[in-house]
Amino acid sequence: MRKTGARLKTFMRVACLLLPVAGCGESVPRVPVSGADPVRGKAAIERYGCVACHAIPGIANPGSNVGPPLNRFAKRAYIGGVLPNVPAELVRWLRDPPQADPRTAMPDIGISEPDAKDIAAYLYTLD
Ligand code: HEC
Repeated sequence: MRKTGARLKTFMRVACLLLPVAGCGESVPRVPVSGADPVRGKAAIERYGCVACHAIPGIANPGSNVGPPLNRFAKRAYIGGVLPNVPAELVRWLRDPPQADPRTAMPDIGISEPDAKDIAAYLYTLD
């Protein structure tokens, strides 16, 4: 009986340690970006030259490391460490990063709203 109790305690300790980690790994439920098209988004990413700073899966890139690699972007909790990773905030970020975070190194590269939505749709395919 005592042994079972000790085992249960150990199990609970391990579970409590693991649970918050499991919570962090969960993807944020997100709605698709309305009216956007990931195929157009891929073309826009190529056109704007995002790979000058980012490694992006599915897009030929020189392996630049100026900005973070955007692999598994759909699973990320925050954008630039400051905005929750949801479509409206991602579009806001893409259109003008310094407006979201004045100290960010990602410049405003003049992305139109429809292009930002298409780009967001593509980035959310990266999970
Ligand atoms: C001049 C370099 C540069 C260019 C060009 C650039 N970025 Fe960035 N980007 C950065 C940097 C640096 C960061 C990190 C910013 C931060 O954390 O404050 C960043 C952050 C991001 C993030 C947030 C990533 C995260 O994990 O938080 C996304 C998404 C992103 N960029 C997408 C793009 C897309 C799409 C393009 C092209 C339209 C692009 N970037 C063009 C430098 C660049």
